[in-house]
Amino acid sequence: MKILVSGTGYVGLVTAVCLAEKGHNVVCYDVVKEKIDMLNQGKSPIYEAGLEELMQKNKERIIYTYNKKEAYKDLDVIFIGVGTPERVDGSANLDYIYAVADDIVENINKDCLVVMKSTVPIGTNYKVEKYIQDRLKGKHRIEIASNPEFLAQGTAVIDTLEAQRIIIGTHSKWAEKILKEIYKDFEKSVIVSTDINSAEMIKYASNDFLALKISYINEIANLCEALGANIEDVTLGMGLDKRIGNKFLNAGIGYGGSCFPKDTKALHWLAKINECELKTVKAAIDVNQNQKIRLIEKSKKYYEHLKGINVAVLGLAFKPGTDDLREAPSIINVEYLENNGANIKAWDPIAQKNFSKIFPQINYCDTIDDTIKDADICFIFTEWEQIKKYDISKYEKLMRKAVILDGRNCYKLDDVKQYNIIYESIGRKSIENIKK
Ligand code: UDX
Repeated sequence: MKILVSGTGYVGLVTAVCLAEKGHNVVCYDVVKEKIDMLNQGKSPIYEAGLEELMQKNKERIIYTYNKKEAYKDLDVIFIGVGTPERVDGSANLDYIYAVADDIVENINKDCLVVMKSTVPIGTNYKVEKYIQDRLKGKHRIEIASNPEFLAQGTAVIDTLEAQRIIIGTHSKWAEKILKEIYKDFEKSVIVSTDINSAEMIKYASNDFLALKISYINEIANLCEALGANIEDVTLGMGLDKRIGNKFLNAGIGYGGSCFPKDTKALHWLAKINECELKTVKAAIDVNQNQKIRLIEKSKKYYEHLKGINVAVLGLAFKPGTDDLREAPSIINVEYLENNGANIKAWDPIAQKNFSKIFPQINYCDTIDDTIKDADICFIFTEWEQIKKYDISKYEKLMRKAVILDGRNCYKLDDVKQYNIIYESIGRKSIENIKK
């Protein structure tokens, strides 16, 4: 079976490499020449644990190319793994999907199955299928299947190789059979066959549910602060109930990334144009927007104005294990700090380079020590291990005034209490141990 994966972002590249790991021969196509050049040198354009090793291990089975004619020749299956970014109104921009559809029309030379891995609004697969069929005018048989991706950044390889479920949305036994054949060696995964619209919905409903869970726990955390309860004890107690589960109950400064913000808005938009408002999803979006600036609100207790204040920023990525900054809470916060005249020093183990493209003018440090030195306040936006393991006594020693605002609850309150510092986190009591 000759398989093409169009798009070498998180979804496309990880899918291609994992299919190769399971024994398939795969062609990876992308329009960006630089990405293909990197891939041909054995380097991944995205930071993802274990991916380069797997690329190396399976290099005999993967071809990377930006040569369209070569890529689309003699294919049996085409996976679409291109981006569907958010439009201003919250809807998904499907331009890249239709660009692939045009490539398919112009280049295929035999019957094939098109498999949608990208997250697309419910109903899109049928539209794309019709778009291609109308233009092919019966020259080749073409059918579409929905096969949404559930990988999380940082664990993308394992999430794909050992997916809890593989959703196959098809409208013919032919398509279902091909996909089952492709996934036959994914022993750890449950395969669920559905119709196409349901498969598309499973993806959105899953992501939006998780986003909702996070916004819910963030609201409960804010209430815990007001009422003197501790969110960690609360989630421990809640999570032991198997119906609730203990995952995705970490309170913080809100969700970011390439999926939750985009997919909540896209489903809300889709529901609205179908006159079926999703009030819970709308609430999750609004809560998340406010949660992202929660630390700024807290900072006002200590500094009315930030002009001339030395600010240390620890963690820039939207979560640990990635250099991705899409919708990262750090962005909106640093923007605010900058607009208000703060002197900013920032640190992140891998996302600094990307961040400096958005904020070239702030100071980037190589170590946490340098970042917090002489700072008047420190913001923590990402729970990197390096931050969690950092010696808390150094905040007291190195900062000019040790005010720490921790948006990811990196430290235990009992540990923090040992030091001469002010410490605010999410859903827990403030510690104000400043003797100076
Ligand atoms: C997510 C989904 O997990 C994945 O299945 C889907 O395919 C794409 O979107 P990802 O965006 O990579 O993956 O990261 P995830 O680990 O889910 O975290 C998303 C955001 O939620 C991060 O900003 C994270 O900090 C936040 N989060 C997560 C919380 O605030 N609390 C939690 O308990 C869990």
